[in-house]
Amino acid sequence: MKISPKMKKVLNDQVTLEASASSSYLAMASWCEVTGYQGSANYFYMQSDEERTHMLKIVHYLNDMGAVASISAIKAPVSSYKSLEGLIKTALKNEQTVTKAIHTMVDIAQKEKDHSTYAFLEWFVNEQVQEETKFETVLQKFDLIGRDKLAINEIDKILAMDAAAPADTVA
Ligand SMILES: [Fe+2]
Ligand SMILES: [Fe+2]
Repeated sequence: MKISPKMKKVLNDQVTLEASASSSYLAMASWCEVTGYQGSANYFYMQSDEERTHMLKIVHYLNDMGAVASISAIKAPVSSYKSLEGLIKTALKNEQTVTKAIHTMVDIAQKEKDHSTYAFLEWFVNEQVQEETKFETVLQKFDLIGRDKLAINEIDKILAMDAAAPADTVA
């Protein structure tokens, strides 16, 4: 094994965290779909897939390093929301939790002079900046456009456009 037991543990915990994020966004997408927010549903189905790719990146990294990924059970996600804005606030909080976990891993990699893991984590550090900005931008729309039915419909359309845009152009 090329990484420390401590690094192995936090990376495996991150596999679980990314899986939880994927499951949480899937539940959000489903809630949006049944509530009539089709654009937001498409957006969160896509987010859910993205989190799964994050999880897989870490699984492959652990296995490549000879550390063997362990796949754990995850808790059932929250499946009901009061509003689209509340749902997006929860999504932002999720991302902030993930950012903290990634920064903790970077700290450990630095301390252990684990250059491979440090380099591997750089992608995640950048990704989290984008992820947080993405949800902050959506939340800002509620202040800019409003919270009545027509405004929410507009915001749903904006999310639909984001979902339809190629991944690298989504802010
Ligand atoms: Fe992620
Ligand atoms: Fe994320």
